[in-house]
Amino acid sequence: MLKAAQRLGLGVVIITVLSLLYFILMTQSAVKLIHPREELHNCCSTQDDFILTQKNTKIGMTIRYAITKGKTFKVNSALTRLLPKTSPLSGRRFSRCSVVGNGAILSQSGCGQEIDKADYVFRCNLPPIGGKYAENTGIRTNSTTANPISQIMSKYKGLRNQQGRDKFMTDIKKYPGLLWVSAFGVKSATVISQQALKFVTQKRIRSPALVFGNPKHFTDTMNFWRAHNLSNRLSTGMYLSSIALSVCDQVHIFGFWPFDKDPEDQPLAYHYYGKGKVDQVHDMPQEFLKLLEWHQEGVVNVHIHKCQADS
Ligand code: CDP
Repeated sequence: MLKAAQRLGLGVVIITVLSLLYFILMTQSAVKLIHPREELHNCCSTQDDFILTQKNTKIGMTIRYAITKGKTFKVNSALTRLLPKTSPLSGRRFSRCSVVGNGAILSQSGCGQEIDKADYVFRCNLPPIGGKYAENTGIRTNSTTANPISQIMSKYKGLRNQQGRDKFMTDIKKYPGLLWVSAFGVKSATVISQQALKFVTQKRIRSPALVFGNPKHFTDTMNFWRAHNLSNRLSTGMYLSSIALSVCDQVHIFGFWPFDKDPEDQPLAYHYYGKGKVDQVHDMPQEFLKLLEWHQEGVVNVHIHKCQADS
């Protein structure tokens, strides 16, 4: 009787262990089936939250700066009044997108038409487009970032005088679509960003629509990449690529090559429109390797050769 009970007990233990093993194996293989691209899509609710809107930013709420550590901003009506009701990407998906970095690898690439083929084009930091750059970099843009400190503050004199304001107004009209400003990256960016948004609102400029980046979305995206071994602050180009990966079926990446020699080992400038240099805040070479890894897996298309040759 005792032996039968012992045997029954052993049987239960074996069945339990086997079920557990089966469960672990099944979960592991299910996890492997999910590409990090899916995770990226799920982590950050990009379509709704990549910018601040009246829907995700309520009066009294506290905004945490993405870069200035420990600093916060209490949301007030002066801010919410300037925000769009909802995100312009809500519920939207694009079949083909181009993300255009500012690397000199684009010079003489002949990639303009290939870039402009996309349904949606992302660009960084108010880059020169059209005119003599058209053949290599294209003429279209749907979403362009502008840096509040190095661009709005420095280049347009903080919009303090008429000359700065006129130049700002003329220049931004070259960038239809969204003009994405990181108002809550560093603390010193907020006042100037709000002034710029007030200015375009008063002037009734609808295109581009000036929007504020959502620091929570930036932080969530950065945390995603941190878990995938990119620990430095994301570059603008890598951040835009992450947004594109969430809203586009095909992501084509141009103008990314953060090296001082081209693929044929010839000296190469940093920007396609001037010298510039690699900064130490980001780890662009590491980001580039990550994008190449995803290129190998067919998740993105990184274009580094002349477009006639590789398109
Ligand atoms: O925002 P940041 O000043 O870092 O970038 P930028 O110099 O205006 O260039 C825009 C983006 O293009 C960067 O954030 C990088 O992702 C990419 N880039 C690159 O990969 N290689 C270069 N030589 C220059 C820029």
